[in-house]
Amino acid sequence: MARQIEAEAAATVRWPAGGQYLGDWREGEKLAQNGRGMTWTDTSAAPSANGAQCYNCHQISPAEVSFGTIGPSLYNYGKLRGVTNPADPASAAILQYTWGKLWNSKAYAACSNMPRFGHAKLLNEAQIQHLMALLLDPKSPVNQ
Ligand code: HEC
Repeated sequence: MARQIEAEAAATVRWPAGGQYLGDWREGEKLAQNGRGMTWTDTSAAPSANGAQCYNCHQISPAEVSFGTIGPSLYNYGKLRGVTNPADPASAAILQYTWGKLWNSKAYAACSNMPRFGHAKLLNEAQIQHLMALLLDPKSPVNQ
């Protein structure tokens, strides 16, 4: 049953245009810090894009000391998985797994507590590319 739920979720993943997985890690860090849009409804302020709230559940960059622990630490995420050059085909599996996890977390864990950022249209493709860079760009503080 769990396998079937995961397979159905995996089939919904939309892959990035042109195989462009990584954006700008600086933008990714801002998004990861930003919890706007999903935890409250603020109609008085000008509408703005959703934040990604990753730190609510994960440790990510070592500079941020306030983080939740519902999810595993993502510090050194790319480094620990050997992504030293994202253009290297050896990194393809990691890029795909990470993109799929961000797009639809249930593709890899049927009962995941992690929001399905792409699938639920909480974040758009460019925002997910920035978060991917935060986790996987060798220059990101996450991988120092
Ligand atoms: C509500 C809590 C929550 C939020 C918010 C959240 N996650 Fe997660 N995340 C989890 C949990 C729990 C797991 C463990 C696997 C699972 O249950 O899906 C996880 C797993 C992951 C994994 C896989 C880790 C591995 O080693 O395989 C990645 C990558 C990840 N999250 C990235 C992110 C990013 C980036 C964000 C922000 C866009 C984010 N998460 C937001 C809860 C969360």
